[in-house]
Amino acid sequence: MADGVRAAWAVPGEPDRCAVVGLDAVERVGEVLVAGRLAGVCATDVEIVRDGFGWLPPGRDGLVLFHESLGEVLSAPDGSGFAPGDLVAGVVRRPDPEPCAACAADAWDFCRNGRYRERGIKELDGYGAQRWSVPPRFAVKLDPALGDAGVLLEPASVVAKAWAQAELLCSRAFVPARTALVVGAGPIGLLAALLGVQRGYDVHVVDRVADGVKPDLVRALGATYHRSVPDREVDVAIECTGVAELAWECARRAAVVVLAGISGEHGPAALDRSVLDAAVLGNRALIGTVNAGPDDYREAAAALAGADLGWLRGLITRRVPLERFTEAFDRADGDVKVVVDLA
Ligand code: BGC
Repeated sequence: MADGVRAAWAVPGEPDRCAVVGLDAVERVGEVLVAGRLAGVCATDVEIVRDGFGWLPPGRDGLVLFHESLGEVLSAPDGSGFAPGDLVAGVVRRPDPEPCAACAADAWDFCRNGRYRERGIKELDGYGAQRWSVPPRFAVKLDPALGDAGVLLEPASVVAKAWAQAELLCSRAFVPARTALVVGAGPIGLLAALLGVQRGYDVHVVDRVADGVKPDLVRALGATYHRSVPDREVDVAIECTGVAELAWECARRAAVVVLAGISGEHGPAALDRSVLDAAVLGNRALIGTVNAGPDDYREAAAALAGADLGWLRGLITRRVPLERFTEAFDRADGDVKVVVDLA
């Protein structure tokens, strides 16, 4: 029993009903029990709280928030591969109950029928609690040296998938792995840049800010920072803002464009027809990607373990205590990754 375990609670679309609540039993037989240390906050969480995105667990009027996790194992089933003290993060998505072909192959990130569930987003409580429990196959062990930077695993898994997809498409068209354009220098863009540099690409990152930590973080990777999309051909572009016009800019320049961002905006965006001509005549590929599968989590854990720890820590620009978790939803100047301290 986990009396006195506190958690960040939300009712989608009703920000005034956010609260810190007490949970009773979070332990489940056969699962890994984890002491939550940090939860990472992203735009999806803000959308859940403010715009009503998300799906409640059946019969409930709220859910425990957050899908970006970090914690320490308290107990684990024998033979699970986990032991007390391990630093872990939880996988977000669960396969659908009647497996579609993708979920049946453990590729739940490609779920075809939409009946997948996601912790903290869709029908399942999130990881924003002082204790959480997870089946061993949905826990990922982290290099203990990462410490708090391990909270970056989930966003890193999303970009690990984006890169895997990009390189799959490059291979089909003999595209060399040389130059990459990353649009947006938020956590997703910066982690995409990190993984690009680790793969040996000459990486160019675009963001609108002139100062603050973002340009410095880009340069510290050995990548190049731009305030507008540079006018050059690239092999891969990873679009992390969801701004349609920027996606078209990518499609003009890159052999492979991976769309990994959602702007939350609706309504028409003008498309210059020459983008379509360029896509056809240039054998260009443009794909969307969301979430991450088991291989992507493993790849992301290795990427974080291989990164400069000081650089990773530099991405975490603000910590908010659990008791005041709603402060994390108000953007402050210079925010990159905001985390909620669950301890
Ligand atoms: C998460 C993904 C999730 C997506 C849609 C993103 O913020 O990182 O894991 O699949 O939201 O719910």
